Amino acid sequence: MTPTPHARDLVDRTVLVTGANAGIGYWCAELLAARGARVILGCRSAERAARAERSIREQVEGADVGILSLDLGSLASTAAAAARVDEPLHGVICNAGVKAADRGERTADGHDLMIGTNALGHFALLAQLLPSLTPDARVVAVGSIAHRFARIAPETLDDPWTGASLRQYGRSKAALMALTFELDRRWRGTARSALCAHPGYAVDPLTPARDSLAPVRPLTRLLAAPTRVMVQGKDAGAAPIVHASTSPDATGGDYWGPGGPLEFRGAPRRVRASDEVRSRSTGAALWAAAERLAGVRFAV
Ligand SMILES: NC(=O)c1ccc[n+]([C@@H]2O[C@H](COP(=O)([O-])OP(=O)(O)OC[C@H]3O[C@@H](n4cnc5c(N)ncnc54)[C@H](OP(=O)(O)O)[C@@H]3O)[C@@H](O)[C@H]2O)c1
Repeated sequence: MTPTPHARDLVDRTVLVTGANAGIGYWCAELLAARGARVILGCRSAERAARAERSIREQVEGADVGILSLDLGSLASTAAAAARVDEPLHGVICNAGVKAADRGERTADGHDLMIGTNALGHFALLAQLLPSLTPDARVVAVGSIAHRFARIAPETLDDPWTGASLRQYGRSKAALMALTFELDRRWRGTARSALCAHPGYAVDPLTPARDSLAPVRPLTRLLAAPTRVMVQGKDAGAAPIVHASTSPDATGGDYWGPGGPLEFRGAPRRVRASDEVRSRSTGAALWAAAERLAGVRFAV
């Protein structure tokens, strides 16, 4: 059983976690469930989602878990998923992400795979979830250290890219973060808030075993053990995200990450986001570009 880090302080709160069948998203869901929250696993594979649900129930006695079929690489799927939500959501954690892709890889709608899934997919989902969000809802987007090395350039967001996949990944994360900070600005004066958080450098071999997660061979775990001084497991990587999602100490527009060296590992603390993802003009231009590309009106 997951040790309960706090009392069951999230009873009566419902949080949707995208990409909750694996890695950091799984751990966000398990940690929230351990604190009494109802968690909804937003996943594209029914089988992987069911395995994650089973695992959370095994770890957390009395866990309240639901599943929402959701493929962020398909605008039809995000629209259908949002329409199926029939309960108030107190939180959404935009965690699902494609971390590497080839240049030609596209979403179902023909968008670049990483921009389309990581940024546009979550933007469309949130736009269409608006009626389900409670008046005090909190949205947390999972960013990355890689956002600091990327230029967003809203007018060419979906253009074919050159250079390294990692740079395009950083751009997709920077776009998601800039949209999230823009959402928070648009929600100012209401009780809703939007924040970003990142998991540092979080790897599977340092992560506690769970039946639902990718198995890690004992030798791989053993060899990875010394890297714990630099990096961390995905359970620890989930901590800044859960903190941003639940702590009274975290407020709209914050960016949380691990507090250790290079922000790779450690306990959650507020960290610095790039000037570009915080820029009002970039946020406004990106919002308009995202509405156009995703074909949704996000009216806030
Ligand atoms: N690990 C790190 O060090 C690190 C660092 C910075 C940021 N991050 C961010 O943290 C998040 C989680 O990373 P992770 O390391 O836990 O990755 P992971 O183990 O690869 O898990 C990614 C999750 O996203 C889901 N996903 C991918 N494409 C999807 C789609 N089209 N629709 C719905 N779900 C989709 C995957 O589902 P499937 O199982 O169906 O593929 C999986 O559940 C990502 O956004 C990543 O960019 C991670």
